[in-house]
Amino acid sequence: MLRRGIFFAHRELNWLLDEYDKGNKFYLYTGRAPSGGMTLGHLIPFLLSKWLQDKFDVELYIQIPDEEKFLAKKNIKDIEEIRKIAYDNVLDIIALGFDPKKTKIFLDTEYASVLYKQACRVAKHITFSTLKDAFGMNNDSNIGWIFYTSMQAVPAFLKSVEEGHNVPCLIPLAIDQDVHFRVARDVIDKLGYYKPAILEGKFLPGLNGASKMSSSDLNSAIYLSDDHETVIKKVNKALTGQQATVELQKKYGGDPEKCMVCQYYKYLFEPDDEKLEKIFEAERNGTLLAGEHKRDLANRINTFLDEHKKMREKMKSRIDEFIVRA
Ligand code: TRP
Repeated sequence: MLRRGIFFAHRELNWLLDEYDKGNKFYLYTGRAPSGGMTLGHLIPFLLSKWLQDKFDVELYIQIPDEEKFLAKKNIKDIEEIRKIAYDNVLDIIALGFDPKKTKIFLDTEYASVLYKQACRVAKHITFSTLKDAFGMNNDSNIGWIFYTSMQAVPAFLKSVEEGHNVPCLIPLAIDQDVHFRVARDVIDKLGYYKPAILEGKFLPGLNGASKMSSSDLNSAIYLSDDHETVIKKVNKALTGQQATVELQKKYGGDPEKCMVCQYYKYLFEPDDEKLEKIFEAERNGTLLAGEHKRDLANRINTFLDEHKKMREKMKSRIDEFIVRA
């Protein structure tokens, strides 16, 4: 993902790695606001976090802000309902194989007595006018949502509070989350902690070519709970950017950047760069045809999801090894 530019930008990664070389270990922090089932796209920052955790042997904090979507979205009316979704999402996350000894997961509403105090320290330094600029809030924004960003800031310095000395923090995230930390980094600095370093990821495009998988277009996203038939159906409808007929395709070829099947290989389903380049080349020169291309991708997705569902079942009895409450 780093090599392929799926994580394409950063804040102060050089500093963080220099500190690591000096023996000053960092910890990782990422999160997921529950509102519904998780899709393949949602996994991207978690997959990178898993790789970083293994590679650098570091701790990972995962925030599950179970109040965020309740506060931010008009259509979410029941905060109790979110709790169930939150635990379902946690299962999907731990199914990726995180090490329970090095991974702490918390729901904001269950860890509030730890988080709230620190959030207040952050909130005191953020004015409403800053948030109007950063998030496009206005006088009609509800005050819970206005406060929320200070909750998301806390895990970026929480370990420093716990340890009593500064610990560097690295946050892998999808680019839309950067705005929270653009605001929080200055405040965290004012509080006397290290500003967190950030790795900024792109969204997995929707199968229909939309730049982000949208939950309003169910066909554009693969849910982790989708069965084989559903995956095959969705992948069959994917935008391939290929020519209108087999003849034209063979003559002119297609564009792998516009072909969602190629993009899914690039993001998640073909780890080998040489093989990926062969697929892209075949797409360009028209020898790769949509039908077989789609069948192969659907197979890979289904193999991944089968394994994922098995892991999910296995982890059901182990959730409490990860969750911290206060
Ligand atoms: N706001 C994120 C979401 O909507 C959840 C989140 C909380 C998060 N803390 C984070 C994401 C830290 C990335 C990094 O899903």
